[in-house]
Formats: sequence, C-alpha cells, structure tokens
Amino acid sequence: MQRIQINFKMSVLAIIFLVVLVTFMCTTINFTISKFDRLTEKTKAILYTAINSLEEAKKNTESTNQKINKMISLQQVNKRVDRNLTLKDIDLMKELYTLTHITLDSVTKYNQVYKLLIIVSSHSRNNWRRRWIRSLWGNRTIWSEKNWRIVFVTGQEDDKEVMLTLAEEAEKYKDILIEDIAEDFYQLAKKIIIGLTWSMHNINFEYILKIDDDVFVNIDNAFQFLNINTNMEGYYGNVVVHNLVERIGRYGVSKKEHLADYYSPYCSGGGFIMTKATVAEILPFFDFTRVFKIDDAYVGETAMRAGISATHVVGFYMSNTWCEFKENIIVSHPTNEHKCMKFLTNRSTIHNVR
Ligand SMILES: *[C@@H]1O[C@H](CO)[C@@H](O)[C@H](O)[C@H]1NC(C)=O
Ligand SMILES: *[C@@H]1O[C@H](CO)[C@@H](O)[C@H](O)[C@H]1NC(C)=O
Ligand SMILES: *[C@@H]1O[C@H](CO)[C@@H](O)[C@H](O)[C@H]1NC(C)=O
Repeated sequence: MQRIQINFKMSVLAIIFLVVLVTFMCTTINFTISKFDRLTEKTKAILYTAINSLEEAKKNTESTNQKINKMISLQQVNKRVDRNLTLKDIDLMKELYTLTHITLDSVTKYNQVYKLLIIVSSHSRNNWRRRWIRSLWGNRTIWSEKNWRIVFVTGQEDDKEVMLTLAEEAEKYKDILIEDIAEDFYQLAKKIIIGLTWSMHNINFEYILKIDDDVFVNIDNAFQFLNINTNMEGYYGNVVVHNLVERIGRYGVSKKEHLADYYSPYCSGGGFIMTKATVAEILPFFDFTRVFKIDDAYVGETAMRAGISATHVVGFYMSNTWCEFKENIIVSHPTNEHKCMKFLTNRSTIHNVR
C-alpha cells in the first residue's frame, strides 16, 4: 500500500515536471520562430546555415581544446612533446573563436583559386556604396582580368530594419559577410581580423586586397602589379612612415594605448595588398581582445611583430580628393561620390582598351 502511494506521488511529480518542461520548450521555440517570421524562406535558410556552421566551429573548438588538454597532461608526463604542434593548435583555436563573430555568411563558395580576393570594409547602412561598386568597377565584364572576387564585410547594429534590409541584400548578391561587431570607427580593426581569418578558412586565393567602401580599384592595373610580383611574402600599399601618434581628436590615442610617439611604418588602410603567406603569418599575432583603435596602424604594428615590413607601391592614391584620373591608379581614395567612381571607372576602361 505504502509503495503504491510513493509511486503515485512520483508520477504526479513527474507529470508536473513534464508540463513545466513542455511549456518552457514551447515558449522558447515560439520566440525563436517569431524572430525569423518576417524573413523570406531563402534568408531563413541562410541564417540557419550560418547557425549550423557556428555550431560546427564550436564543435571544432571543443575537439581542439580536448587535444590541447591531452597534450598538456602528456607534457607533464613526458617533457618531449612537440611544442610546435601545440602552438599551432592554439592559433587554430584563436581563429575558430574569431570566426564565431560571424553572424551571417551569405558568400557562395566556388571550387576556384582566385588570384585576387577583394575584402571591402563596409558600413551595414552603406548599401548604395555597395551598389555603386557592383555596377561600376566591381563589374567583371568591363575588365580584361577576370580571376577576382569581391566580398563585403559589415558590422551589425541594433536597428532590426537595417539588419533585415542587409540580410535581404546579402541573400540577393551573396557577397556579404555580417559580423557581430558594432559599427564604430574604433572597431574597424576587428572587422579586418575577422575578414582575413574568414578568407583563410573559406576562399582559395593568392592575394588579398583590403579596401574601404569609398575607394575605386583599377582591377587590370592591380593585376599588372600582381602578375609580375614573385615574392611569397608581401604587404603592399601606400606606406606611411614615421607618422606621429596624435593624442587628441578622432585619431587621438592615449600613452597607455600606444606609448611610442611614432607608429611603425604601415600601409594606409583605404587599400593594401597582402599575399596569402603573409596573411597566414600575421593572423596569430592579432590579439582580438586588445585591438588597437586605429585599424591601419594596428595592422602595421602586427605585421611588424610578425617580422613583415610594409612595401611602398606606386598606384595607391590615398588622398585623391579631386578625383583625378591617372593611368597607373591601383587604388584611389576617396571615391565617396557616384560621379567620381563612375568617372574613374569609365576613364580607366577607355584607357585600357586603347
Ligand atoms: C619546431 O619549429 C622549429 C621552427 O619552425 C623547427 O626548427 C623545429 O624543428 C620544430 N620542432 C619540432 C619538434 O618539430
Ligand atoms: C556590367 O557591364 C555590362 C556591360 O557594360 C552591363 O551589361 C551590365 O549590366 C553591368 N552589370 C551591372 C551589375 O551593372
Ligand atoms: C564612358 O563615357 C563615354 C562618354 O560619356 C560613353 O560614351 C561610354 O559609353 C562610357 N563607357 C562606359 C564603359 O561606361
């Protein structure tokens, strides 16, 4: 009799527990569904893919973690464990952690080796600038050189309308990578680190050209430079040498952030090129938790720590304020007016045909 009573009590408890659990699960699922309600089927699919690859990255991180733990315990037993492999694994872990900052990867992957991958740092709201690029110098049909690809890298903001529009744009053009980085001038270096890490893991390329969304690129001229370059290592652009560290204003940096009075030489951030080997060598030296707020100077400092120096190349015009056409332009900045980007694109293609 007593036993039956106990069983009865337990059943009641179990039923209550189940009811609570089911209620909880339903609310969670409902909440998740309503968030995605307004997206089209395709965008939903993209978001789900993004979430899955995130899970995959996390799984990989876990297994790498286990491997490292095993190695550390092995090391305590046997001091002759290969240290190089351990460091490599730590680098990989850092990279996988960096990749968890990607919230939407809309970029289609083709089984192709690109001579040039162009990574464009772009503000999530600057859809018109991305449109200009796609229709002007980003239009493959107007250049002789075809083996290149453009990927836009944006941050994220709280405004749902902006993010929804951005997701739809990404779905349409499949050339946008959205990162969970605030759209803040001082966070630009993070955008670049994630963009470079993502490139190494997702696209097969020989060179990366990192630019901002307010520049013009003469693709054929860029290839003319790349086609004769034989260096495996390289960090090319408009090199800024002996640049005084400003202590106030937009570019102001405290002594705590950067003690030295001058920056190491770096390539101006509006546009610079790196070989794949150089990207691979620099990545481990980035410290995501302590990035420096001036993005191009930070890339330069990091390159220096990796033992790579910036090389000056003619053709990177970083303050072409009058939108002047020059035959040897590789990158021209600023190009923040449609008129200017159109003019440079048109003049460059006419010139190249001649
Ligand atoms: C570790 O790397 C260094 C330099 O890359 C190399 O000289 C050394 O042989 C490596 N050690 C092992 C155990 O592989
Ligand atoms: C690219 O250029 C070609 C030829 O000029 C044109 O037909 C096409 O519409 C352009 N594409 C875009 C996206 O503007
Ligand atoms: C460039 O401009 C000229 C003159 O306005 C025009 O005739 C030509 O079609 C344009 N070319 C391109 C590629 O847009």
